[in-house]
Amino acid sequence: KKDVLILAIESSCDETAASVVKNGREVLSNIISSQIELHKLYGGVVPEIASRKHIEKINQVIEEALKEADVTLDDLDAVGVTYGPGLVGALLVGVAEAKAISYARKLPLVGVHHIEGHISANYIENKDLEPPFVCLVVSGGHTHLVVVNDYGKYEIIGRTRDDAAGEAFDKVARAIGLGYPGGPKIDRLSREGDPEAIHFPKARIEGSPYDFSFSGLKSAVLNYLNGCRMKGEEVCRADVAASFQKAVTDVLVEHAIKAVKEYGYDKLAIAGGVASNSTLRTAMERACRNNKIKFYHPSPILCTDNAAMIGAAAYYEYIRGTRHGLDLNAVPNLKL
Ligand code: KG4
Ligand code: ZN
Repeated sequence: KKDVLILAIESSCDETAASVVKNGREVLSNIISSQIELHKLYGGVVPEIASRKHIEKINQVIEEALKEADVTLDDLDAVGVTYGPGLVGALLVGVAEAKAISYARKLPLVGVHHIEGHISANYIENKDLEPPFVCLVVSGGHTHLVVVNDYGKYEIIGRTRDDAAGEAFDKVARAIGLGYPGGPKIDRLSREGDPEAIHFPKARIEGSPYDFSFSGLKSAVLNYLNGCRMKGEEVCRADVAASFQKAVTDVLVEHAIKAVKEYGYDKLAIAGGVASNSTLRTAMERACRNNKIKFYHPSPILCTDNAAMIGAAAYYEYIRGTRHGLDLNAVPNLKL
């Protein structure tokens, strides 16, 4: 059987990324141009700035990806691209680029759902992982518990009612003066703090055991900080970070393990930027071991936004016969 080489493009938020992936699981190149330094000034991603920067960078990033993989456009079998969800202006840059390459080189075009990409990141380093399994997707924009029934067949069994897990990390980080993006900073500072120092609430939603809510937790942190300020007490930021992080990870672990057990699977994967959190990884690993569940997770660089994961997802879509036309559009609120 002939190898399938896919050029994948990702531009849904603040990373301009391109990758060449062979047969869905072998990454030949994975180029990521991050805009974090630009958006830091504003404490979050500014959509207009993101779009402009994508336009500036995308050709260079694709060239680098092809060069590092040691292939040319002539070697490719298809072009994969994230077409949603995400920032519409940012998505459009990748989609237009993918369409142009597809048209010029007569290559099949495969649109990919960004979350399907995050989930598929698990296939890259875990050659034995195949559906069915349960995946906890925790990123800056999404918190989903997903049953992966087969390649391309997803069932969302739980989701956040308000903030995404990564959003909660970013907001709490801002409140304690850590800056953007908050997740990695809270992760680091927590190592110096006591996770039992402050008791923050863990929200559970009556009748929906797999749903999440993080806005109450965020408010509890803000109230705690205000309380300290009013009383003139000094805040131990490391304790706040560690205690907040524990409250988030406890809930994520609890819900994910419960889902795997009740749905009768024996495999759990995690995905998305927050899946690179060291406390979450350790806690999930331990819980899986105790419950005889096989635990899968991508390396941190494949957890946050990248195009290799889009290449992995595009491969399985390509094999299933998914093809998009040149009328493919960016869909900011695309459903999985
Ligand atoms: O998946 P991602 O790169 O972009 C989205 O699709 O949203 O996720 C970014 C999110 C940010 O909220 C960031 O703060 C969070 O992932 N994040 C982390 C860590 N690294 C990134 N959160 C907790 N711990 C980390 N180590
Ligand atoms: Zn993402």
